[in-house]
Amino acid sequence: MIPMQGKNALPELSQRQRREIEYHKDHARQYAEKYRSIDFAVVSFTERRWWNAYWEMYRHIALADMHGRRALVVGCGFGHDAVLLAKLGAQVSAFDLSAELLAIGQDLAARYELNVDFQQMPAERLSYQDGEFDFVLIVDILHHCDVPRALSELARVSKPGATWVIDEIYTHSALQLVRESTVIMRFVYPLVSQLLYAGKPYITDDERKLDERDVAEIRHWIRADRIDYYEAIVKRFVPVRGRALSKLDRLLLVGLRPVAPLLGGRFVMSGVLERAAAGRIVDSGLNSAATRAHERAPAPGC
Ligand SMILES: C[S@@+](CC[C@H](N)C(=O)[O-])C[C@H]1O[C@@H](n2cnc3c(N)ncnc32)[C@H](O)[C@@H]1O
Repeated sequence: MIPMQGKNALPELSQRQRREIEYHKDHARQYAEKYRSIDFAVVSFTERRWWNAYWEMYRHIALADMHGRRALVVGCGFGHDAVLLAKLGAQVSAFDLSAELLAIGQDLAARYELNVDFQQMPAERLSYQDGEFDFVLIVDILHHCDVPRALSELARVSKPGATWVIDEIYTHSALQLVRESTVIMRFVYPLVSQLLYAGKPYITDDERKLDERDVAEIRHWIRADRIDYYEAIVKRFVPVRGRALSKLDRLLLVGLRPVAPLLGGRFVMSGVLERAAAGRIVDSGLNSAATRAHERAPAPGC
């Protein structure tokens, strides 16, 4: 049986991390059936979906060549990416805060006879050794974390020159100010939210979209030649319906490349770790000063 907890006991958790665990208990129950199978099309590499951030993320992964590499999947949720990397021949470790989600990931790996080492731990304090991983996959997780702490821990457990691939939701801070304005919050958000989320949106109390300052923080660690933006319109104002709008959305951001960081709602980037982490964070504060200064009221998810 794969251990569901880090090799050391779970460290002391922050209130925020506890709230994430509580939230995802219900989330795991609600979506367990939906995520009990996996579509391997994205790793067949016979098809390209240039307008889709997730598919483009797998193009970055293909370039990194997973075979035999020690890969880490950060905040792995239901475990799909962990299983997909294992399918590509990587030796995969994956962690999350939620024991319920990890259990589903574990079942999934067993179902497809693929080996993934699932562990329960927070991104801000990893129980892996220094320099264990050649490759780190970060998908929709940093915006749930104390970003500087998580990045510093990921740098610590990465080998020098390790590849990181990142696909995260994003809003530029200037656009965020507009989104938080009274007019938008009172009149536009309720309408858009109705259109986007028929039921309850998947937004935790503490999550906060990454912005240009977080991108700069990531660039502090990795050398990334380019960063591609997606979803200026789709998932912000309209739900994903068919491919035409998503294609238009992506073309718009390619055409308006200089202002794409202002308009984009998601980014994909990859790069090579350039900087050695100073070592394990030892102070007792559960959130970094940088994140505390950066924190603000949770933002609407659309
Ligand atoms: C939006 S989901 C993304 C899951 C997965 N990466 C994906 O793309 O499907 C966010 C995940 O982060 C996990 N999480 C939240 N805060 C965390 C933290 N501090 N450390 C590790 N995992 C965390 C949650 O339990 C949840 O599984």
